[in-house]
Amino acid sequence: MRKSLFTMLLVTLCAVVVKAQSITSPDKNLTLTFELQANGVPTYKLSYKKKPVIKTSKLGLETKDVPPFMDGFTVSKTETSNFDETWNPVWGEQKSIRNHYNELLVTLTQKAVKDRFIRIRFRVFNDGLGFRYEFPSQPNLNYFIIKEEHTQFALADDHKAFWLPGDFDTQEYETVTSKLSEVRGKMKSAVTPNVSQTTFSPTGLQTPLMMKSQDGLYINIHEAALVDYSCMSLNLDDKNYTLESFLTPDAIGDKGYMQAPTQSPWRTVIVSDKAGDVLMSKLVYNLNEPTKYKDVSWIKPVKYVGVWWEMITGKSTWAYTDLESVQLGVTDYTKVKPNGKHGATTENVKKYIDFAAKNGFDAVLVEGWNQGWEDWFGKTKDYVFDFVTPYPDFDVKELHRYAASKGVKIIMHHETSGSVRNYERHLDTAYKFMVENGYNAVKSGYVGQIIPRGEHHYGQWLVNHYMYAIKKAGDYKIMVNAHEAIRPTGLARTYPNLIGNEAARGTEYESFGGNTPDHTTILPFTRLIGGPMDYTPGIFQTRISAYNPANNSFVHTTLTKQLALYVTMYSPLQMAADLPETYEKFSDAFQFIKDVAVDWDDSYVLEAEPGDYISIARKAKGKNEWYVGSITDENARVATIKFNYLPKGKTYEATIYADGKDASFDKNPQSYTIRKMKVTSKTVLKQQVAPGGGFAISVK
Ligand code: NOJ
Ligand code: CA
Repeated sequence: MRKSLFTMLLVTLCAVVVKAQSITSPDKNLTLTFELQANGVPTYKLSYKKKPVIKTSKLGLETKDVPPFMDGFTVSKTETSNFDETWNPVWGEQKSIRNHYNELLVTLTQKAVKDRFIRIRFRVFNDGLGFRYEFPSQPNLNYFIIKEEHTQFALADDHKAFWLPGDFDTQEYETVTSKLSEVRGKMKSAVTPNVSQTTFSPTGLQTPLMMKSQDGLYINIHEAALVDYSCMSLNLDDKNYTLESFLTPDAIGDKGYMQAPTQSPWRTVIVSDKAGDVLMSKLVYNLNEPTKYKDVSWIKPVKYVGVWWEMITGKSTWAYTDLESVQLGVTDYTKVKPNGKHGATTENVKKYIDFAAKNGFDAVLVEGWNQGWEDWFGKTKDYVFDFVTPYPDFDVKELHRYAASKGVKIIMHHETSGSVRNYERHLDTAYKFMVENGYNAVKSGYVGQIIPRGEHHYGQWLVNHYMYAIKKAGDYKIMVNAHEAIRPTGLARTYPNLIGNEAARGTEYESFGGNTPDHTTILPFTRLIGGPMDYTPGIFQTRISAYNPANNSFVHTTLTKQLALYVTMYSPLQMAADLPETYEKFSDAFQFIKDVAVDWDDSYVLEAEPGDYISIARKAKGKNEWYVGSITDENARVATIKFNYLPKGKTYEATIYADGKDASFDKNPQSYTIRKMKVTSKTVLKQQVAPGGGFAISVK
């Protein structure tokens, strides 16, 4: 796993106390300066090619029970070092990742608090900055409770921002694109209804926050390695364009329970004058620990189909009956009338297994297989599911046998309905049940208000739960795809069985009224910075009413843009979300989904501008095959696709799945053409893209 060169060079160790100290990135483009203000307040600033990225910004933490870590500090030691290592992820956009940075470690002492000391560790990479607070073990520091973290990010100007309303319970909002000064005016309309949501400020924002300055700098603020701490949102001072950390509180308003030795997550600032560098940045992963797993052979990328979209569209149901309420162990499902629309029947699942086997998919997700779905939604019911008891029409043993005979896995589904204590109660039994019945991956879900009541999806308590569920799954060699959980912070480096997360508006919203056409041109710059998303692309039947006449939603992309998403939305877990009968109708376009890889040797951003367009090429892992995806927002454009990553002097055959001449996401989404052409490393293709469109290319 952790391969190749590893160098740790101690460059300077200054016992001399300095008030200000700078380090640069290895390529010298970035400069980080730490400085102590007169009253002993720690500050930092960051510049890129001499342009200010973060102006002098304060650092500190307010506490509830011990004197605050805010001021009165003196610098007692500064140490600088550098690090250069290349590591191989278990899955990823590249087969190897370079982790190369210069580090400054500052020890700060508060004389007035019996010489209590903390450390702030800064790492400057070519693609940005990471820093964190460290609380070493010492006589005068043991337990403490965080009231608030006051980390500032003072921006240089009124940047254009791609933002979501700050919320402790959901990220399922449309991204708003506006100047920072316009956030306040747009906040109200940005907060669209969700089954669980808790906003905190008229200028509160979520991370990853993507911004662009007027002079062309791309800046992304997020966090890395969120472990045993609350999720950080940002509160904007819109007069000064200064962002400040705002942690998620628990049920009684506290923001973090700490015990030294401990540390905060890393605060990250990715910066470049090229948008593509932000997409390719591995800074967040590099700030996470190498994997703790010795054996990773059981962790594999997955291409899957599922008994899922039919429920999302309203064609069939998760629930077995139309009863308004049920109780596990009380309701006798063998005595109640089925509603005749249940999706997860043995027969229907077999149909999907056959389809998966025939088309080379690894797995079939099945939702609504277990008892309790009649009244799981919006009820804050404690004992809602037990994760082991199937409905009478779902034969676990028979499906295990059938799937195994076809070489297909079934993906387990655990909807917790936000009842997290109930889930933890059942977790061991549920994972054991999975192993006994041949399941090696679970999609978990956290829809609704959290139980225990008052806790939030993004608080420390839940952060610890998600981690517990991932680690415990690791004990059973189970891969996890968690929906409505905390947005990722690169932890998949350490726990690569976390192969997917939702934590944003996924394709399901195309059936709940739609996603805007620019949505997927933004997500790779925001949500995907911390890790892959189970976006569930591949919807070919763009009018949802074809499945459910009562549903007027339509997919806000063209058909071939759905294909492009397999490349532009990187994930080791990719679903072909539409129904088998639809894929059979469009079998020529479906060929791309069958072919496309889910794991890569290398990736190349060809063109990118957040909110407008993205074109990416990737080389399939261990194969001489390349796949290109290109998407646009609501505006048509001409994409320029280079092939200069192909080996020189060889000719390959490219198959291009493109929008038809008359295609558009709203009027003619299913118009497409498929053509073949010969390409070499010198080929440059100019390809027309329809409004809300996209195209995909396979090269063999
Ligand atoms: C929301 C998830 O995002 C979706 O994929 C799932 O089907 C439902 N919850 C039910 O668990
Ligand atoms: Ca969701």
